[in-house]
Amino acid sequence: MRAFVFFVLAFGCPTLATATEPPKKAEQQFKNIQSFKGMPAHDIDPAMEFMSRALGVGCEHCHVSVADGQWPMEKDDKQAKRTTRKMIAMQQRINRDFFGGHQEVTCATCHAGRVEPLATPPMARHEEAAKAAPAPASVRVDEVLQKFVTATGGKPAWDKLKTRVSQTTFVGPPTGIPLEVTQLAPDRWLARMISKHGSFEQGFDGKSGWQRSPRGDVHDLGGSDLADARRDAPLALPLVLPSLVSELKVIADALVGKGNAHVLEGTSGDVVERLYFDDKSGLLVRWSTRLHTPLGDLPEETSFEDYRKVDGVMLPFTVVRNIAGEAQTIKYQSIKHNVPVDEAQFARPAATPTPTPKPAATPTPAR
Ligand code: HEC
Ligand code: HEC
Repeated sequence: MRAFVFFVLAFGCPTLATATEPPKKAEQQFKNIQSFKGMPAHDIDPAMEFMSRALGVGCEHCHVSVADGQWPMEKDDKQAKRTTRKMIAMQQRINRDFFGGHQEVTCATCHAGRVEPLATPPMARHEEAAKAAPAPASVRVDEVLQKFVTATGGKPAWDKLKTRVSQTTFVGPPTGIPLEVTQLAPDRWLARMISKHGSFEQGFDGKSGWQRSPRGDVHDLGGSDLADARRDAPLALPLVLPSLVSELKVIADALVGKGNAHVLEGTSGDVVERLYFDDKSGLLVRWSTRLHTPLGDLPEETSFEDYRKVDGVMLPFTVVRNIAGEAQTIKYQSIKHNVPVDEAQFARPAATPTPTPKPAATPTPAR
């Protein structure tokens, strides 16, 4: 969902999500690759996102932007983009020569969210480090997962639900964009956002994800977008959690807000995931992940708040996603279950021809 908003904001630079059917090399898909030669093309988006977050800037800090239409991402007009190639080479050399090839030093190590790294010691005291280590947990994985199922209404209540249609709004930047989410059990998902440009859609068909712009271009979801869709899609999350995250184990408890939470850690692909369950209510209150990018890991954290009972199950009415310090909140206005939904809408649509004479960005799949 976060990526969805990002996609809406970045509309006009559609290269962000160019389709990658056969795994292509970056230099085959893009026009001016020098630093990332040999890297898979689908690693470019996460790498760009990582650099933007590490420096606390938007794409336009390094790239030439235009008001309407495609941004010429391949151009090297901006000094910041040219400097970045040197920075990438420097980072690779530092890690190779001083850290045995491990990715210890990244853009974030030095930049820490700003364009100009600090050259003087910071004035602020590190309060985090002073905190006492939390007590080790005294629960088992299956207990925590079972308590979550029970706390949210129990399996029989979840099993009665076949579809869900939710009306939500984004709060925080950007404000007030309505978003409708349609789900079909077990894991079909469609999010439709109406912006001033038209209707943006993201879908998940149980295996793969796609997105469609108002222009009618259709792209596959990959990387962080696909990971987000996979997490957002399940209709009965408490029942499928163990299949979404593998090798779960209990790690030390953590403080979440004012309460104590049991923490489970596991993996999905090469992403490390942490699930935080309130030790009193048993509800999932936080989900954090680290997405691997070629330049370093990108932390993402989702908080689930304001749980309310709807048709026998407990659902969060406020979901806050924070990616490397940038938070987006989704507030649910209404959630309806078991209304009829058309199954066909979850499948990847064919690209519709664009009204402009420009060729479509992706080949139109044969009907
Ligand atoms: C800190 C600077 C920086 C930021 C911020 C940045 N980029 Fe880049 N971008 C680069 C550099 C450098 C390259 C060239 C990489 C190479 O030589 O392999 C590049 C290349 C690209 C390319 C390939 C263009 C081509 O055809 O050769 C795309 C697409 C791209 N960036 C998208 C983005 C998007 C989208 C964002 C915002 C999320 C972004 N970039 C943010 C520095 C940046
Ligand atoms: C070892 C520390 C270090 C690492 C790692 C590092 N940088 Fe830098 N970077 C610096 C310093 C220091 C400067 C400021 C140099 C100056 O002021 O002349 C800088 C400057 C820059 C600038 C120019 C600032 C501007 O005006 O736009 C960009 C862009 C940049 N870095 C991007 C990156 C990116 C992207 C990465 C990761 C691929 C990265 N840096 C990794 C230390 C680092």
